[in-house]
Amino acid sequence: MLSFCVEAPKHYEDAAKIAKPVNVSYPKPQTIIVCGMGGSAIGGELLKDWARDRIAVPIEVCREYSLPAYANKDTLVFVVSYSGETEETLSVLLDAIKRKCMIVCISSGGKLREFAEKMNSPHLLVPSGMAPRATLPYLFMPMPAILEKLGLVSDVDAEIAETIKILKQVSAENSPQKEAASNFSKTLALSVNGTVPAVYGFGFYRAVAQRFKTQFNENSKNPAKWEIFPELNHNEIVGWEAAKEFAKSFSVIFIRDADEPIEIRQRIEVTKELISREIGKLFEVWSKGKNSLAKMSSVICTGDFTSVYLAVLRRIDPTPVKTLALLKEKLKQTGLKEKVVRELQKLAGE
Ligand code: F6R
Repeated sequence: MLSFCVEAPKHYEDAAKIAKPVNVSYPKPQTIIVCGMGGSAIGGELLKDWARDRIAVPIEVCREYSLPAYANKDTLVFVVSYSGETEETLSVLLDAIKRKCMIVCISSGGKLREFAEKMNSPHLLVPSGMAPRATLPYLFMPMPAILEKLGLVSDVDAEIAETIKILKQVSAENSPQKEAASNFSKTLALSVNGTVPAVYGFGFYRAVAQRFKTQFNENSKNPAKWEIFPELNHNEIVGWEAAKEFAKSFSVIFIRDADEPIEIRQRIEVTKELISREIGKLFEVWSKGKNSLAKMSSVICTGDFTSVYLAVLRRIDPTPVKTLALLKEKLKQTGLKEKVVRELQKLAGE
């Protein structure tokens, strides 16, 4: 997991090339849905945040067994599953085929690849043998490239170039060789150790905050939470009011941006002042770069490093996700996935 963080710039660079040779001959969609679970869904959330101010087509992330009622032939559906074997995602693929949606699949193989090929749907093959959450660049970066192919966005390459430059910097600054005193992620891991970190984001750092939180869960095996401004000013802050003893178990990480809107900056400052009465451990992670993709990726990379260093501090192996694997194994007995696969086989004319 640590080597993935160190090599993040290279993974982003390789990931950006994956969509290039793929032929996607669909008309402009009217709605876009990204389907996936866990590490395969977060790329969709990032796409939604990144596209919010530049693409006039609604983007939704679907973590369900079926698509929302509006999905139809004018809907572009990205079906994303790293393993290609996730029950919920295969079930949505089935639904998307039935509704004649425009489908693009992303996986490292498995049943998803098999059925994408059988149904002649574009499929983006990502490298296998990694933990899904470590393949975020491969599961996320091809999507903006596909949207560019469909004429929904332009100049993605320029953003990617800056992103890779910034990630090289973040990776070097947080590398395992660097002592904690001059290594931001190591210092942050030491600071939040023994607490439940709450990550507060805003704007296009919404899913970045979520990713930060889930990396604490899956890599550090640590409970964590995430919230966003301005919404958290309308509920979350009240939760700390009478929490005195309890609040000691928490820390808060604020995602910051040198160009953050003034209204958000004011909210962050006032929030820090108010909650510091209960929570002593408040930290900030400042993004780097100019464009939104670089900024988002810089915080993601810092969070990834921090979660792995926290695992090291807690003497925990960041890679295995035992409970998750156990749950998938137990759910196999329900036979639901087999039922979905049989229906897919029928549709594929087997
Ligand atoms: C494991 C992880 C999980 C999986 C999720 C869905 O590293 O991050 O959240 O991503 O269980 O599995 P896939 O990605 O194979 O569809």
